[in-house]
Amino acid sequence: VIFESSNAGSIAVANEIATLIKEKQKNNKTFVLGLATGSSPIKVYDELIRLHEEESLSFKNVVTFNLDEYYQMDPDNYQSYYYFMHEYLFNHIDILPENVNIPKGNLTIEESAVFCNEYEEKIKNLGGIDFQLLGIGRTGHIGFNEPGSHFNSSTRMVTLDYITRADAASSFLGIDNVPKKAITMGISTIFDAKRIVLLAWGQNKSEIVKETIEGEITSKKPATYLQQHNATTIILDTEASSQL
Ligand code: GLP
Repeated sequence: VIFESSNAGSIAVANEIATLIKEKQKNNKTFVLGLATGSSPIKVYDELIRLHEEESLSFKNVVTFNLDEYYQMDPDNYQSYYYFMHEYLFNHIDILPENVNIPKGNLTIEESAVFCNEYEEKIKNLGGIDFQLLGIGRTGHIGFNEPGSHFNSSTRMVTLDYITRADAASSFLGIDNVPKKAITMGISTIFDAKRIVLLAWGQNKSEIVKETIEGEITSKKPATYLQQHNATTIILDTEASSQL
C-alpha cells in the first residue's frame, strides 16, 4: 500500500494496532505485539503514544516481543535497542514492565543460546504473535536476519552484514564501534505471526523494496520470504515505491 507520506502511512498502521488491541480488550485477552527498532517505526510509536495520551488507549493487555538486539550490548547503553524502545515508546505508555520482552545482548554465548530458546517458548505459550511490525535493511534483512538466513531459522545469534554495520556507523561514531553480532528472532518466528506489516520509507529503500516485492524468493534477500505469508502488507511512501 502506497501512502503520500510516511506520516500518513504510520497513522494508518498505528490505527490498525489500536483497533486490534481494543478488540482483545473487549474479550479480556492478551494482545501479542512484535516490535521493531530503527527510524522506520518511530512515527507509528509517536501515534500510539498520542492515542494513549489523548484517546485513552491502554496497553495493559499488551505483551511485546522485540525483534532484535545488538550483541554485546548492555541494556542501559543508549545505543541499545532496549534503550531505544523505552525512549520512543515504553516510557510513554501504560504497558506493564513485565510484559516487555527484548532479546538480551549482555549474556554469555552459552546463556544466550538458552535465552533464545526461552524467547521462542514464551511466544509460543502466548499463542504466537498477533501483529508483527517490521522495517527492512538495505541487505534485505528483517529483524537481523541477514542474507543466508534459512526460512526455518528461529531466535538466535547472528553475524551482521558489512552493509548493515556501515548503515549503523553514524549512530556508533564509526563502523569500528558497531557490534559484529546480534540476537534476532528468526524467519520462522516472524512468519508465524498472524499479521505482518513492513514499513519502508524514502528513496534509499526503493531498490530493496522492488526486490522484496518483485524479485524471486531467495535466502539472499530474506525479506522476499514474506511474499509467501498470507497476511503481510508492505506500507510505503511514494519515494520507497518509486522503482516498482
Ligand atoms: C536495523 C534493525 C532492523 C531495521 C533496520 C532498518 O538493522 N535491526 O529491524 O528494520 O535497521 O532501519 P531503519 O528503519 O532505520 O531504516
